[in-house]
Amino acid sequence: MIKSKKKILALPGSTRNGSANEGILRTIAALSAGTADMHIYSGIRELPYFDPDQDKEEAPAVVATFRRAIEAADGIIICTPEYVFSLPGILKNALEWTVSTTLFQNKPVALIVAAASGEKALESLLLIMRTFSAKIIPETLLIRGASGKLDKNGKITDEKLLSEIKNLMAPLEEMMHTNKEA
Ligand SMILES: Cc1cc2nc3c(=O)[nH]c(=O)nc-3n(C[C@H](O)[C@H](O)[C@H](O)COP(=O)(O)O)c2cc1C
Repeated sequence: MIKSKKKILALPGSTRNGSANEGILRTIAALSAGTADMHIYSGIRELPYFDPDQDKEEAPAVVATFRRAIEAADGIIICTPEYVFSLPGILKNALEWTVSTTLFQNKPVALIVAAASGEKALESLLLIMRTFSAKIIPETLLIRGASGKLDKNGKITDEKLLSEIKNLMAPLEEMMHTNKEA
């Protein structure tokens, strides 16, 4: 049976030029092009600082766009560095704008942390996504020493990493196809 292409939204935790995390997401997008439509969200830096007072009624337009992108996706990939033993503020801020919603509930989610070490960021992401009741695929990926595994064009040069990425994508795609709410 031919499976329909599912929509994946990727949320990068780094906005840095030449980001390893962005390189990883681009690689995933290329690898999954035959089976999924993946969009790397570029609007994270446009989101205002989370403000509970602005979250009460109509959300700012950029926030509404961000929320619609999550809603429309069959699955989410979050790929982020660790900053000072936590999530980068820009990603944490974006996630804060979803707290008052149920957007992540039952949403298939794959988590990648590419950093120097990264354990704390992964721990934090897992806690946040469990709190949001997301369907987290068990194959989370912690990429230590990330910058040494890509060339200067953001292409992954590490074969082991490439196969780990493929091992992550297969269960995400499976979960998107079996997810009742997708
Ligand atoms: C402000 C700052 C703080 C950082 N803190 C940590 C940290 O606590 N733990 C860690 O593993 N790496 C830390 N790093 C290293 C980054 O995680 C690493 O350079 C990563 O590859 C950056 O991701 P990017 O290439 O996608 O921008 C830090 C980097 C910066 C710029």
